Amino acid sequence: EKGGYDHFMLKEIDEQPKALRDTLRGRIDESQRKVRLDEVKLTAKELQDIQKIHIVACGTAYHAGLVGKYAIEKLVRIPVEVEVASEFRYRDPIINDKTLVLVISQSGETADTLAALRLGKSSGARVAAITNVVGSSVAREANDVIYTWAGPEIAVASTKAYTTQLLAIYLLAVFMAEKRNTISVQDRVEILQALQMIPEQAAQLVAAKDRAKEVAKGVVDWNSAFFIGRGMDYTVALEGALKLKEISYIHAEAYAAGELKHGTIALIEDGIPVISLLTQPDVYEKTMSNVIEVKARDAKIIAVVNEGDMKAADVADEMITIPKTHPLLTPILSVIPLQLLAYYASILRGNDVDKPRNLAKSVTVE
Ligand code: M6R
Repeated sequence: EKGGYDHFMLKEIDEQPKALRDTLRGRIDESQRKVRLDEVKLTAKELQDIQKIHIVACGTAYHAGLVGKYAIEKLVRIPVEVEVASEFRYRDPIINDKTLVLVISQSGETADTLAALRLGKSSGARVAAITNVVGSSVAREANDVIYTWAGPEIAVASTKAYTTQLLAIYLLAVFMAEKRNTISVQDRVEILQALQMIPEQAAQLVAAKDRAKEVAKGVVDWNSAFFIGRGMDYTVALEGALKLKEISYIHAEAYAAGELKHGTIALIEDGIPVISLLTQPDVYEKTMSNVIEVKARDAKIIAVVNEGDMKAADVADEMITIPKTHPLLTPILSVIPLQLLAYYASILRGNDVDKPRNLAKSVTVE
């Protein structure tokens, strides 16, 4: 059932181009200008009425939600709060009939996420869900469901679920922006065209396994690693750090690059790996200045950059490039080398990749 692979995780990383293609299928109309989400029953009027969105999820799905905040606020201009379900459900959040609660869950069975969904409903909010499992509790109870078509995800470390969740979020953001008139046709076309190239670009990245393995060799001897970035890169840093922690057991911290000086930089020592994400053009120079600061303290810089980046090579000890895409979409691509990095770090350390210690695939109890 592993189809010739040693581990489900690597199989599932490799399945991402197909999973992305399947999740995209039929959801962009022939004119290339509109998103079709026939399953979303929210009327134009209901969409107009939404004043706030709460995205609620756990773990990797929460990290997908963080990307959702950037994409939705940028394109739809509705305030979005993102919260882990175990916090949201116990803090009496402000929810009413002008609120959309969007839960994200691969399994559709995570106890806290389901409880958050129910809280949203009982408080009068409209509840939408992004999930991978047809007929799951979340799918049954949400008012609207957008499925990711990633196929079964078996490995504990979530990979293809995350990238397809991002795709679903982008589609939803463009869909809402169009209905609320907050996006030009030109911007829509640009994003939708870029989205259609993503599966092929993901295929290029999953093929670059040797590169990831090389980089992993430079990380495994450390008990600590840092992931830094700004904006959407920061959200991917969080996901990259989670992947590394859960399967390699290397302590990894993700930091918003601008926060380093407020404490964490004290931990930077000679040779420590700092995975630096530099894919966001508007904050590139800012992040670069932080990278230079940690480099000056002899950190080992592993830079994740866009193809054609001419500057990063001057400071980076290792470079990982991702194919050119729309700046809003880089998380789908930049996460793939980080998934591979975590995978090879885990292998090199002799861990059980698919069943990391103390973790279960689906957390159905609190
Ligand atoms: O099934 P869900 O998406 O609700 O699961 C949420 C988290 O438990 C899950 O993403 C977890 O963090 C993964 N092990 C991360 O790789």
